[in-house]
Amino acid sequence: MRRRILLYFMSVILLIVILFQAIFTFAIYHYYYGNIEETIRQHAQTSRSFFDQYHPLYTFDLKEYSSEIIHSFQMPGTNLLLLNSRGEVVQSSSGLAVEKKVNIPTFLKEGGTLKDIVYSPLGEKVMTFYQPLFHQDQVIGYLCYETSLTDIDKMILRFTIITLVLNLIIASAAFILSWRLSNSFLKPIQHIISISSKMAKGQFQNRIETKSPDELGHLALTLNYMADEIQENERLKNEFISSISHELRTPLTGIKGWAETLKDPDYLSKDEIAQGMGIISSETDRLIHLVEDLLDFSRLQANRITLFKHTFDLNELLEEIVFHWKIKAQEKQISLTYSGDCAVFWGDENRLKQVFLNIIDNAVKYTGTKGEVKVSLQKFKKAVSVKICDNGQGISEEHIPHISKTFYQADIKHNGAGIGLAIAYNIVALHGGKIDVNSEEGIGTEVVVILPFLEA
Ligand SMILES: Nc1ncnc2c1ncn2[C@@H]1O[C@H](COP(=O)(O)OP(=O)(O)OP(=O)(O)O)[C@@H](O)[C@H]1O
Ligand SMILES: [Mg+2]
Repeated sequence: MRRRILLYFMSVILLIVILFQAIFTFAIYHYYYGNIEETIRQHAQTSRSFFDQYHPLYTFDLKEYSSEIIHSFQMPGTNLLLLNSRGEVVQSSSGLAVEKKVNIPTFLKEGGTLKDIVYSPLGEKVMTFYQPLFHQDQVIGYLCYETSLTDIDKMILRFTIITLVLNLIIASAAFILSWRLSNSFLKPIQHIISISSKMAKGQFQNRIETKSPDELGHLALTLNYMADEIQENERLKNEFISSISHELRTPLTGIKGWAETLKDPDYLSKDEIAQGMGIISSETDRLIHLVEDLLDFSRLQANRITLFKHTFDLNELLEEIVFHWKIKAQEKQISLTYSGDCAVFWGDENRLKQVFLNIIDNAVKYTGTKGEVKVSLQKFKKAVSVKICDNGQGISEEHIPHISKTFYQADIKHNGAGIGLAIAYNIVALHGGKIDVNSEEGIGTEVVVILPFLEA
């Protein structure tokens, strides 16, 4: 991965550097060469205009006036050759006799100008510029300016070397930067890989350390969250197994004890036999209830619960539940009261009964003797709200967000498997409603079930 990041970054940077170097060299070459050409061209054109203006002073014989022409039209930094119409050198500004004949191209004969770059016999690079001279619309000779390009080439080379060195420095800096950048990517990724492989092996106590707010930080937080959830589920599963074993053992011990006793009924009074049978029956009910809860829970997990909806009076249902539960509440001297008006509702009556039974069961279970449990129903335009308030032990703040989770028990001292509320939340959600729990430790709990009126 590091190699790929480096390769990618370096290819991009080298491409930019090479492109910049090429454009810069090309631009500087054109700037200097263009400048020289332009200066000579302007001088040559001025010379030609001057010659045009004053040519009546001259005869056709170039040779005779060659010195004057050279003297008037020469340009500093260049060597001026005066050529006749056949291209033979008549005179040069250097004063040296030049035995040279230039092949004049046709367009030059027709009055055009020519710039050329040639190499002198000594191997020197030279720019030449030809300017025809006219007399009565006839080309009678040519001015040929020659200038050496050696110094300019040296200067261009110097600039090119400077920019090349600068570019190499930039490329090295880019290499170091991309190395550090790839490290800053890779180090957290390697850390995530090492911790997540430990998690894959079941070592969930490790957490990924992250402070970066980017996608990697997000990934690390998600993996940490996943580990938290797996650990929490593991804890709940273990708690569930232990509480379920306890829940099963208690009634089974009662049943077994009384079954053993009843084996020999001759020594028992009628009342004792009746009491034993009663305990066996109620403990069996408890077991059936527990198994039903577990079955319901597994159906809910698999989304296999179907609601059988019909129209019924929620008020009547609550009255009935409270009436039956009163006996159980009285055992703990808890006052269980209900208030509400007729509320015709369309839903699954049996499932909703299960919801309220679970919540009222909790209220009575987690409220001490002489406590109070108030159930009330309130009808609104679009929904009905059922409030179950108790002044029992309450739930501490850190447990409230979790009590709807399956097998979660805020208080493990009491009998229970931690399924009741999970089932209730699911059934209410299937009716399009919700359950809110407000509680304060030591003060009491308020559970509000909100059920929207559904269209039949
Ligand atoms: N009214 C309440 N007062 C105090 N704690 C409550 C109350 N209702 C629920 N809880 C807490 O929420 C937890 C979850 O409730 P839930 O009904 O799901 O489980 P449970 O009562 O322990 O077992 P189950 O209902 O399956 O027999 C309980 O263990 C209890 O700690
Ligand atoms: Mg419960």
